[in-house]
Amino acid sequence: MKTFIDRHYRTIRRFRFLYGWAKDACTKVQCSKRAEEWKAKGYKGAKLDVCGGRNPYKPGEYLNVDIVSFPQVDLVFDIRRKFPIESGVIAEIISCATLEHFRRHHNEHILREFFRVLAPGGILRVSTPDIEAIARGLLAGDDLEKVNQHFFGKYKCEKTDDFDLHRWMYPVSAMISLLREIGFTDVKQVENDTGLHDPKYNYLVRARKP
Ligand SMILES: C[S@@+](CC[C@H](N)C(=O)[O-])C[C@H]1O[C@@H](n2cnc3c(N)ncnc32)[C@H](O)[C@@H]1O
Repeated sequence: MKTFIDRHYRTIRRFRFLYGWAKDACTKVQCSKRAEEWKAKGYKGAKLDVCGGRNPYKPGEYLNVDIVSFPQVDLVFDIRRKFPIESGVIAEIISCATLEHFRRHHNEHILREFFRVLAPGGILRVSTPDIEAIARGLLAGDDLEKVNQHFFGKYKCEKTDDFDLHRWMYPVSAMISLLREIGFTDVKQVENDTGLHDPKYNYLVRARKP
């Protein structure tokens, strides 16, 4: 839905720094309000976008969790630690372009936390760079800039440099095995239709907590 500011943007564009500030402030208020409402309900039935950061998946429908309090972020916490959420309450989790930023033991912790907080029947979708596809791209002579970005991550700004590095990636078969080992069922690779990242180099795996 268009806000007042969006509708009158042409007139006020000379003051666009104010526009940016006002829009961020307004987004932050909405996100905090949404987070408070869900917290009061113990997050029962909530959907999480884990590490949505500045590029959230369906904001408004999913609560955006991130370590950096960008205006778009609903819940701020470090996912390398125990999530501040009760077990068995979350309806759905999506995690895009996230797991590759963590070391292997953190990945295992995060996936186990996903399992813990999901309600029975809850759905997990994980999208992360496909190390095998990137290697194939490299051998096939794909653009070196692009291949490097997928392997090592992008540098976007001072604030997120460290968080933007890639540290560990699973081939899709290893991700599926790990999710099954943790206890997920119906684990399979599905079409990457998130629209967030190049599906040639990022897979999407779907799993269910029994
Ligand atoms: C590459 S962005 C992904 C954003 C979005 N999900 C997407 O698909 O484009 C990775 C996000 O992970 C967040 N992040 C990194 N380390 C984190 C941590 N320990 N806990 C929570 N979020 C973290 C970063 O701040 C950043 O917003």
